[in-house]
Amino acid sequence: MAGILSGKKFLVMGVANKRSIAWGCAEQIKAQGGEVVYSYQNDRLEKSLLKLGLAEEEMVECDVASDESIDAAFDQVKEKFGQIDGLVHAVAFAPKNELVGSILNSSREGYLTAQNISSYSLIAVAKAAQEKELLAPKASIVTLTFIGSERAITNYNTIGIAKAALESSVRYLARDLGKTGSRVNAISAGAMKTLAVTGIAGNKDLLEQSRSLTVDGVSVSLEEVGNCCAFLLSDLSTGLTGDIIYVDKGVHLS
Ligand SMILES: NC(=O)c1ccc[n+]([C@@H]2O[C@H](COP(=O)([O-])OP(=O)(O)OC[C@H]3O[C@@H](n4cnc5c(N)ncnc54)[C@H](O)[C@@H]3O)[C@@H](O)[C@H]2O)c1
Repeated sequence: MAGILSGKKFLVMGVANKRSIAWGCAEQIKAQGGEVVYSYQNDRLEKSLLKLGLAEEEMVECDVASDESIDAAFDQVKEKFGQIDGLVHAVAFAPKNELVGSILNSSREGYLTAQNISSYSLIAVAKAAQEKELLAPKASIVTLTFIGSERAITNYNTIGIAKAALESSVRYLARDLGKTGSRVNAISAGAMKTLAVTGIAGNKDLLEQSRSLTVDGVSVSLEEVGNCCAFLLSDLSTGLTGDIIYVDKGVHLS
């Protein structure tokens, strides 16, 4: 099908199931005529992707905690697909005991894990993609963030701090990858019920609060986030880089 991403190929990182934001992004990339290759964290997640109907040939394993794993994954992507026109980084993690109560309960280890997986991993994948000349000219990188980066959201804690670092990384990466023609942006999505969110204590309240702060009382959908992602990956947004785009139906206005 012809669309704003026709003839383009993208790596989508972070599908766990059909509720994943990465899945919402992949669906809209395909709806706009783009081709998608998926990366999954480990064997367990590979099974989930197979359940979603994806074929082995469409996916590679990539644990973003490991440079070796990123290297091997990107070699495989290049071998199978040649250069790609961009990637979606929809990956985050913090140990469950970091996502409850006071930030004063945060441990050094938990904090560093959150930073490693949820923030440094964007730099790590951008770096590997550039070193391996995986990115085609005018490539676009999109990551996912949350308003907990700038507000002290209940129980969001170390992930919020990691998201602040992630958003800053977007700006530095935009500056440096811009020299070779690539763009980097983040979508700050409204709260949605995904596997990652169920790890946050009191996630029902978080979801309900986010819904109630939208301009029309209806939470943002996967499709709406995916559509913005497709736009950011397309040549319609070549003037945008280093930005954080709110796709939260106005939650950030309150
Ligand atoms: N759900 C929300 O309300 C919301 C809102 C704003 C931003 N986000 C962000 O969207 C992104 C996607 O999360 P989601 O909500 O779709 O949840 P999800 O659980 O569906 O996706 C998270 C993904 O991160 C992957 N991941 C974790 N550790 C990894 C590792 N070491 N290597 C490779 N992959 C790893 C998981 O396998 C999973 O696929 C995250 O960055 C999240 O913070 C979510």
